[in-house]
Amino acid sequence: MGAAKLGVLNIAIAQINSQRSRLIMNPEPILQVSQLWKRVNSPDGLLELLKGVDLSIGSGESVAVVGASGSGKSTLLGLLAGLDTPSEGRVEIDGISLFDLDEDGRARLRGEKVGFVFQAFQLLPNFTALENVMLPLELAGRGDARRVAQEVLRRVGLEQRQHHYPKQLSGGEQQRVAVARAFAPRPKVLFADEPTGNLDQQTGSRVIDLLFQLNEDEGSTLVLVTHDTALARRCQRTLALVDGRVVASV
Ligand SMILES: Nc1ncnc2c1ncn2[C@@H]1O[C@H](COP(=O)(O)OP(=O)(O)O)[C@@H](O)[C@H]1O
Ligand SMILES: [Mg+2]
Repeated sequence: MGAAKLGVLNIAIAQINSQRSRLIMNPEPILQVSQLWKRVNSPDGLLELLKGVDLSIGSGESVAVVGASGSGKSTLLGLLAGLDTPSEGRVEIDGISLFDLDEDGRARLRGEKVGFVFQAFQLLPNFTALENVMLPLELAGRGDARRVAQEVLRRVGLEQRQHHYPKQLSGGEQQRVAVARAFAPRPKVLFADEPTGNLDQQTGSRVIDLLFQLNEDEGSTLVLVTHDTALARRCQRTLALVDGRVVASV
């Protein structure tokens, strides 16, 4: 091959490589947050829970949110998921501005794009495991809610428990139902706020493995609040909150 041709080939390869590393380094943002403030009135006066948070999270990323108790982690997660409204600022999920929507629009967007796993499971006590997982699918008008819910319950290893009520399940099993419920509609972003906080080490690690599996296999973005530094290291990125501000993003 002549020198000129080789030169062109090298340039093309360099271009492909730089594109590939850009794609790996900067996936399409799924969450974009600018100047997010949350203020609440309290008996002690005005409290600033979040003080101008800016961040961007790429599609498919796994991100740990760490910080001392009271630093604003749950407040931030609730706002990112559209469960709460900010005093100021903007959150975009998949290019849609959450707080330009009304409550109904936001609920619809949540149903389509967001899953949330809470520390305290928050299953509906009068619904079976299967009914809990079916609920978001039915709310989204899915005719195949039962089949999809059964499939996801199988995925989390609970096919034998689908007709049990939450109080008939162990903590770890309840949290796996909650993960199945959050994941069943195939959300683009899965939020988990200290999902192992009420579980023992071994049960907790099964729940965590499941969250990472869903993140890797399905390409869903994972935003995980945790106190566990080993767990934070398993995420691609860590955001550290101190007193309502993001102080480090590594
Ligand atoms: N609705 C509220 N009214 C008053 N204070 C609140 C409210 N929600 C949270 N807080 C306070 O805001 C701070 C941040 O809370 P939170 O986001 O739950 O922190 P974290 O999840 O990091 O422990 C805490 O000091 C908490 O007590
Ligand atoms: Mg919290």
